[in-house]
Amino acid sequence: MSAVRVTTVLAAAAVLAAAGFAWRANEKSSAATSAQLARGAAVYAAACASCHGTNLEGQPHWRSPGPDGRLPAPPHDETGHTWHHSDQLLLDIMTRGTAAVIGGSYASNMPGFGDPYSEADLRAVLEWLKSRWPERERSYQREANGGDS
Ligand code: HEC
Repeated sequence: MSAVRVTTVLAAAAVLAAAGFAWRANEKSSAATSAQLARGAAVYAAACASCHGTNLEGQPHWRSPGPDGRLPAPPHDETGHTWHHSDQLLLDIMTRGTAAVIGGSYASNMPGFGDPYSEADLRAVLEWLKSRWPERERSYQREANGGDS
């Protein structure tokens, strides 16, 4: 085999491996188990719905700061912007709260839930939220994850 041909074969193998990897990653995320989704729905109802709404609708006038100068809770459905962000950023916000994630003197009414909830609990909420998004928002968010979720 010539050097050029070996290189071509290796490049083709790399492309196939990358495609296979992306395919498996998609499989993995679409395989949120029903137990995980049930857990996510339960945690959402107990800890998130009071601000983000039972139907993920968020608080009224969520785009403008309220009287306390802080942003209201945005919707988590397709009318909000949760689906614009990567899993990593969303889990960080859920765990540490928005003020800690943004830093500086930013003040926010979104607390962190790393205590009392486990990483698996918060991941379950995220998977449950995703399961409620239409395909367009899901695929946009998959891109925000670099195609790996
Ligand atoms: C006390 C009210 C309150 C509760 C309870 C609450 N949130 Fe929030 N959340 C907010 C507010 C307010 C914001 C907007 C914060 C900001 O931008 O400063 C927010 C923002 C977020 C964001 C960023 C959304 C985006 O579109 O960028 C995520 C993700 C989030 N919340 C998830 C959760 C989850 C999951 C729970 C339950 C475990 C939860 N929140 C419970 C008030 C709340």
